Amino acid sequence: MGLEMKSNKRNKEHCQLTKDNNNNSNSFPNANATISANSSPRKSRRRNRKMSMTPVQRLFETCKGVFSSGGPGNVPSPEHIKKLQAVLDEFKPGDVGLTPNMPYFRPTIGQRTPEITYLHLYKCDQFSIGIFCLPPSGVLPLHNHPGMTVFSKLLFGTLHIKSFDWVADAPCVSDVMNSEGKNPDIRLAKLKVDSDFIAPCNTSILYPSDGGNLHCFTAVTQCAVLDVLGPPYSDPDGRHCTYYYDFPYPKFSVKALSVPEGEEEGYAWLQEREEPEDLALVAALYRGPQIVDK
Ligand SMILES: [Fe+2]
Repeated sequence: MGLEMKSNKRNKEHCQLTKDNNNNSNSFPNANATISANSSPRKSRRRNRKMSMTPVQRLFETCKGVFSSGGPGNVPSPEHIKKLQAVLDEFKPGDVGLTPNMPYFRPTIGQRTPEITYLHLYKCDQFSIGIFCLPPSGVLPLHNHPGMTVFSKLLFGTLHIKSFDWVADAPCVSDVMNSEGKNPDIRLAKLKVDSDFIAPCNTSILYPSDGGNLHCFTAVTQCAVLDVLGPPYSDPDGRHCTYYYDFPYPKFSVKALSVPEGEEEGYAWLQEREEPEDLALVAALYRGPQIVDK
């Protein structure tokens, strides 16, 4: 998730999780691999450097290659996506210095909403890397990722994800009355995911127009999500984080927009909203293995 923090909130970012499977056996040389007789000393040194990288440094170096030509709506190639997904698939909580018993994940008592912590690892114009730490019942409200490709790795815990994609060519509808007689601007979206995800599970990816570009996270247990966004949120570049309410399809009746009979539960109306007042999202200093940007 990528979220714009206000006052004490900053560097929001974010994700979506599916159960895709890949392995990275070919991405980086095995430590025991035999070096061929015609390998040059320079190639051997490069190979040794990769083998000795921390997982975080390996992630950073991979992101640099994957997002080097990135921009809004410019999705990385399938080969690049597989490469980054494979690196993330191997990530463990210890690779970023996290354990479930850290203070970020303690249940909150007596507060309206549990506080969610964002650990910032890196950000440039092409991509950002960060971790969301959610205590039990922590909620990242429904939000979008305009023009972005987002990789998410659930490091530990159980997370409920509800995600949507806009229905193509469905206009924003303003001439609609709800039961209270109000006139909201709403738009039709298709439900993509509404499930619990349990770590360990593989990295998932959302895209600018599919894969569940709008999503809401609810922590069933304490959990940590490692997120890579390419490109990151940027207000000056028009990539704002927008929040939404979601309403069941039967709540509104729009003549020009209908879904097949019996499939109503697979759709919802989304309406823009202000950033929720009760969203408690704070930034904290990342204390795990550091990224070195040479
Ligand atoms: Fe997100």
